[in-house]
This record gives sequence, structure tokens and C-alpha cells, in this order.
Amino acid sequence: MITTANIAEIRAQVKQWHMQGDTIAFVPTMGNLHKGHITLVTEALKRADHVVVSIFVNPMQFGQNEDLDAYPRTLQADSEALVAAGAELLFTPTPDIIYPKGLAQQTFVEVPHIGDEFCGASRPGHFRGVATIVCKLFNIVQADIAVFGRKDYQQLMVITAMAEDLSLPIEIVGIDTIREASGLAMSSRNGYLTTEQKHQAATIKRTMDAAAQHVMDGKTITESEAVAADMLTQAGFKIDYFSIRNAANLAIATADDKHLVILAAAYLGNTRLIDNLTFQR
Ligand code: PAJ
Repeated sequence: MITTANIAEIRAQVKQWHMQGDTIAFVPTMGNLHKGHITLVTEALKRADHVVVSIFVNPMQFGQNEDLDAYPRTLQADSEALVAAGAELLFTPTPDIIYPKGLAQQTFVEVPHIGDEFCGASRPGHFRGVATIVCKLFNIVQADIAVFGRKDYQQLMVITAMAEDLSLPIEIVGIDTIREASGLAMSSRNGYLTTEQKHQAATIKRTMDAAAQHVMDGKTITESEAVAADMLTQAGFKIDYFSIRNAANLAIATADDKHLVILAAAYLGNTRLIDNLTFQR
């Protein structure tokens, strides 16, 4: 695997592969890779000849009081896992390379509506930071497809909308959430949890399953959300949001909507965890 922070080197390698007639898949990450990330790489390899991964803890998507400095950086272990998974090119830029003019650079990518509520409301500027870095990374890497996790459901919708609205020449692929045996969605932020908290954290998945079952049993969405909120609060969470919405556009679900998504974000201590579950009623 070639590891470089150099944009020209990434472009030259990808260009050479394209000239051979090969296809390229791209997996953007912030590092501290776990089985969820590695699954994106193995799924990417099934869909393209070569896989490019980026590791960049993007300061633009972190709020003032968030965990930018504390965010785990584990490049050595990440590289080993990526080699084992079959990635061939790893882009590891510094903030100076990505934002030579600083974070107040003049051009941003904003994806309104889909990015307004939920994580967009709780983390102002977050999706602008995500859309801007992903757009920049797409322009740097110039892959044919990009692979993202459904774990970050709203993020995947924001990126899909951006690619469509801006006619970006890249196909966006979503991959199902990889979970611990307990049901806890794998996340780099799980590393902030104590053993006891990890145990508690598995309640999120159980709560989403219960809420989905309530809706399927004919309870109203409001009732089902209220029962779920109780379950999470009793398990020691401080809820940021727990909403059951139309899965296609995140709008408030009407009685006719069959394909629904539960979006959940909650704090255990200082750690903010997010998860989601799609289901049919
Ligand atoms: P990061 O949190 O490192 O996640 C990188 C990719 O891995 C995202 O597409 C995310 O949805 C996916 N992922 C994380 N946990 C997963 C799990 N348990 N199962 C399946 N996929 C999982 O998301 C980001 O980084 C950043 O916002 C980024 C898109 C890289 C832009 O900076």
C-alpha cells in the first residue's frame, strides 16, 4: 500500500489505473479503523479494481466544544488493517494540505433541508464541514465509486444529495451498519466508553428494535417515540433526538408512509452516540 499526504501523487496513481482501464473505489474515513470501516474497504474491493482510503480528522466538521483534539489517531494499526483488507493507496493529508487558507476558506458546500435537522441541528456547521471535505476528497481522488456506511444515515443522505445536485461523476454506495454482538453499532467513539457504559450502550439498538415493533404492531409514531425515550432515559442516556421518519426524505411520516427510519442520538456521560434502523410497516 502506498501512503502519501501528497495530492499530486494520489492523482497520478489514480490516473495511471484509469489509463489501464481499471476502476477505483474510494473510502473516506477519519481513521481509528474498526470492523465497520474495514467492511467498507472489502465491499469497495468487490465493486472496483483498486481501493483508495483517506484518513483525515476533518477540523471543519467539529464544533467548538467537540472532540477534535481527543479524537483517536492510530495510523500504524490503521495501515496494517488496510493492507490486510487489500487497500492499495492511503491518503493521509494534514489540515494545511487540505485547508491552505485555513478553515475560513471562501467556498463551502451546503446541503440544506436534508442536513437541517437531527445532527445538522445539534451540530451547527457539521454537515457543511462534511459535504465540503467529501467534495474536496472526491475532486482529489477522482474515483468511480465511493463507499459509505449507513451507520451515519443522515450523512449518507447529505452526500448522495450533494453528488446528485452537483452532478459529481461518482456513484455513492451505502453499506449496512456493522455491530458488536451486543447490538452496539461499531464506532470510533465507543473507545471513550467504560466497560459498564458499553454494556449500557447496547440499549440503543434494543430500544430501536422495540420502537419499530410498536409501530409495526399499530401504535402511533408519537407513542412509539415516547416509549423509546423512556427506555433510553432509564438506561442512563441523555437523549439528543429519537425520531421515526420517512426513510426516503426524513420528513415527518404520514400514515401512508411504509418505509421508515428511526434516527437516534444520545449521550452516555460526555460521549455522543448515534444509530439508526430502517424498517417497513
Ligand atoms: P468516520 O466516522 O471515520 O466513518 C467513515 C465511514 O465509515 C463512514 O462512511 C461511516 O458511515 C462508516 N462507518 C462508521 N462506523 C460504521 C459501522 N459500524 N458500520 C458500517 N460503516 C461504518 O464519517 C466520517 O468518518 C466522516 O464524516 C467522513 C465521511 C470521513 C468525512 O470527514
